[in-house]
Amino acid sequence: DASRHHAAALLAWYDRHRRRLAWRALPGAAVDPYRVWLSEIMLQQTTVKAVGPYFARFTERWPTVEALARSPVEEVMKTWAGLGYYSRARNLHACALAVAERHGGRFPSDVEGLRGLPGIGDYTASAIAAIAFDRPAAVVDGNVERVVTRLDAIETELPAAKPAIKARVAELLDSTRPGDFAQAMMDLGATICTPKRPACSLCPWQASCAARKAGTQETYPRKAPK
Ligand code: ADE
Repeated sequence: DASRHHAAALLAWYDRHRRRLAWRALPGAAVDPYRVWLSEIMLQQTTVKAVGPYFARFTERWPTVEALARSPVEEVMKTWAGLGYYSRARNLHACALAVAERHGGRFPSDVEGLRGLPGIGDYTASAIAAIAFDRPAAVVDGNVERVVTRLDAIETELPAAKPAIKARVAELLDSTRPGDFAQAMMDLGATICTPKRPACSLCPWQASCAARKAGTQETYPRKAPK
């Protein structure tokens, strides 16, 4: 059906054009949930580019969640300095302690188990469940909102459109490769379906995109006036 076709086209694009990011496993290799969690916390309010060196420093100094848990929180705060939103660093250490002490050093593998750990809300729980554990979770960030509202020309403004967007992602997602699907959506939004001057001629969904058909790509997502 149409959704399966969309997912297949997106994954084929991702297999050729995925960004090489430090927290992504090489194709075929196992993903490390600790690295996925750490990257998702860092990426919550910070760009991919700014996160790079911090991610390298953290994983070099603390290669496992247990190592991070054993470190004094002050050391974690110092190493975080410069990334901003310092409650993330405090929660990072609290979450490492919770995983080490209450979960035997293993991250819960589903959205319900992840949500509610320190620093992990709806978005981050679904991202970790999908990327680290291949759970078919609908992962919706700002990039994904832009992609989906353009694909369907969704006229409802944000934030009211959020439930419909999440439902549409759940319908589109590929249950054989949920982690790759989630990251493919992020990469499509970051590199092709950009806010200004999207590169539609390179998009795997160009033929079925409603906004492109109408020439109104840059007007999505609609937003309530501030
Ligand atoms: N932004 C948030 N999570 C990301 C990921 N896993 N890959 C790329 N960009 C992201």
